[in-house]
Amino acid sequence: MLATHLDPNTDLASRKPETIDKSVAWIMTELGLQSGDNLLDLGCGPGLYASRFARLGVRVTGVDYSRRSIDYARENAKIHDLDITYHYQNYLELEDENLYDSAVLIFGDYCVLKLEDRKKLLANVHRALRPDGLFVLDVTTPQLRHHQGDKCSWYVADAGFWRPTLHLVLENGFAYPEEKIFLDQYIVIEGDGRLTIYRNWFQDFDREMIVNELENGDFQVQSLWSDLTGTPYEESSEWMGVIAHRKP
Ligand SMILES: C[S@@+](CC[C@H](N)C(=O)[O-])C[C@H]1O[C@@H](n2cnc3c(N)ncnc32)[C@H](O)[C@@H]1O
Repeated sequence: MLATHLDPNTDLASRKPETIDKSVAWIMTELGLQSGDNLLDLGCGPGLYASRFARLGVRVTGVDYSRRSIDYARENAKIHDLDITYHYQNYLELEDENLYDSAVLIFGDYCVLKLEDRKKLLANVHRALRPDGLFVLDVTTPQLRHHQGDKCSWYVADAGFWRPTLHLVLENGFAYPEEKIFLDQYIVIEGDGRLTIYRNWFQDFDREMIVNELENGDFQVQSLWSDLTGTPYEESSEWMGVIAHRKP
C-alpha cells in the first residue's frame, strides 16, 4: 500500500503529484490559510499533502492508523527538516479540542465509513477545530459508478498490489443504486489454492445528502466543487470537493 501511495504514476492510493500540488495551492487560497495556521490532516497517509502544506509554513498535524505510512512520513519530514507532528492513531478516537484552524480529509475516506463512524468522525472534527474552523473533504458521487459500470474482470500477476508472488485476482463491482452504495470486491487466489476475499464498501453522495449529513454534524457547507483543485461543481461530477465551516 505504501508503495502504491508513493507511485507517481497511479491514482490508486493517493492522487498523482501534479494533482496534489494543485490541490494544496487551491486549498491554501480558498481557505485563506496563512503561514503559522494549524491544519489537521486526517488519514494523512505518507504525508504527501502534509509535507507540501508544511513547506508553505502551515503547522500540520497528520493522523493515520497505518504504521508504515506514519513511519515513512516522520522519516521524510526529518530528512527535509519539516516541522510536522504525526500521530499514529485512529481518527475515530481523536480527542483533540479547539486546536486547529482547518482540517482536511482527502481522497474519499469519508465514503468508506459507515454512518455511525461518519457521525463519530464529524463530532471529532467539530471538537478539534477552533470555533470558526473549516473542514475540507472530498466524496464520490453515483456518477463515478455510472462511468465505471459494474466491474467484472480478472487478471494473473507474478507480483502486485495484493500479493508479492504469483496470484489470480477476480474483480467484481456491485452497485446498490437506491442506497448509493457500491461494493468493490477482490477475490485473490494464490498458487497453493489459498483464497482471500477483500470487500471495499463505498457510500456515494449527492449534493443534498452531503449537505444534510454535514448539517446534522454541526457543519454548514460553504461551497461545493467537482474536486479539490477548484473545478466548479456540476450535476455530472464524479467527485465532490466540499468546504464546510464549523457551526458554533
Ligand atoms: C485513500 S488513503 C488517502 C491518504 C491521503 N489522504 C492521500 O490522499 O494521500 C486513506 C488513508 O486514510 C487512512 N485511514 C483510514 N481510516 C483511518 C482511520 N480510522 N484512522 C486513521 N487513518 C485512517 C489509511 O491508513 C490511509 O492512509
